[in-house]
Amino acid sequence: MEKEQYSADIVVRFLEGESFSKRDFVALLEAGKNPETCKLLQEEALRLRKKYYGDKVYIRGLIEFTNYCKNNCYYCGIRRGNPNVKRYRLSEEEILSCCKNGYGLGFRTFVLQGGEDPFYTDDRLVHIIRQIKENYPDCALTLSIGEKSKESYRRFREAGADRYLLRHETANEEHYRMLHPEEMRLANRKQCLFDLKKLGYQVGAGFMVGSPGQTMEHLAEDLLFLKELEPEMVGIGPFIPHHETQFAGEKAGDVELTLFLLSVIRIMLPKVLLPATTALGTMDVRGREKGLLAGANVIMPNLSPKENRKDYELYDNKICTGEEAAECRQCLSRRVESVGCHIVTDRGDALS
Ligand code: 5AD
Ligand code: FES
Repeated sequence: MEKEQYSADIVVRFLEGESFSKRDFVALLEAGKNPETCKLLQEEALRLRKKYYGDKVYIRGLIEFTNYCKNNCYYCGIRRGNPNVKRYRLSEEEILSCCKNGYGLGFRTFVLQGGEDPFYTDDRLVHIIRQIKENYPDCALTLSIGEKSKESYRRFREAGADRYLLRHETANEEHYRMLHPEEMRLANRKQCLFDLKKLGYQVGAGFMVGSPGQTMEHLAEDLLFLKELEPEMVGIGPFIPHHETQFAGEKAGDVELTLFLLSVIRIMLPKVLLPATTALGTMDVRGREKGLLAGANVIMPNLSPKENRKDYELYDNKICTGEEAAECRQCLSRRVESVGCHIVTDRGDALS
């Protein structure tokens, strides 16, 4: 009886903004299996998204500038141990040409994303960052290039980088070990995120939903970690197996659970910038639209040259690898409008 009462109260306590323990989050996630609970939280998440952002959706132009990576994360299609990837690097000119194309399409944030590729030394990166910021002073620049030293992060920040995306992937030590080789450390990844915050970046953390071995307890720890870090951005999407990884035969993450977590995160961090991810759109043809309805307010389409897109395959069947940026932009407008939102030409900085 006492236990039933606890589950019934958990949603109310969450909506009232009570401070949650791991046990509370597990109970909330269990409660989320009930479609009515899910709907209730979705409505609240939508109300909050509208309160802070109205119907605006921010777009970020993703430039996948290198698919070389020195890491070997077990889930990732472009990890160094996969010999069957056609590797590419974009030159500075090619990167700037992606920005030019994107600027014309209304993008005011560029995201430089890549594997951890030692070819791009700090000096090279600083040069690229400066060039982008000089050519596009009204745009925000986001980096998503993995774990670096605090000193490197400082140099990129001084060169003009505004934001940094580094998903923590899982906040649980044992689970982290299941997903990454020995040489990678969760503690280091977390430290990077705190360093980035201290350096004044707008920071994004996040994780995959349904990655191999993930339990409700792990997800509860992810939520607790987000609460502790208080990032300006959170990226989550379903895990999707890649055929050339050791997780090829694993199940993909659940779309409904991803949507539920988007709502939970919107309620927990009401002003957060929350993308409806490409992975969500890959698992469900209307995944991104559903994500917006669950509380997301950002979409990150691809600005990479069309000929490289299919080679940046973190997981199988990734969408939008055959389109030009301009085609994507139009398709996205229609999709976003179908759920009562509209895309804005704006940097879309975090609300303070
Ligand atoms: N399925 C879904 N997401 C993945 N990522 C990497 N591999 C996969 C996969 N197989 C995510 C990771 C990474 C982000 C760039 O993409 O969370 O941080
Ligand atoms: Fe890329 Fe639709 S968003 S084709």
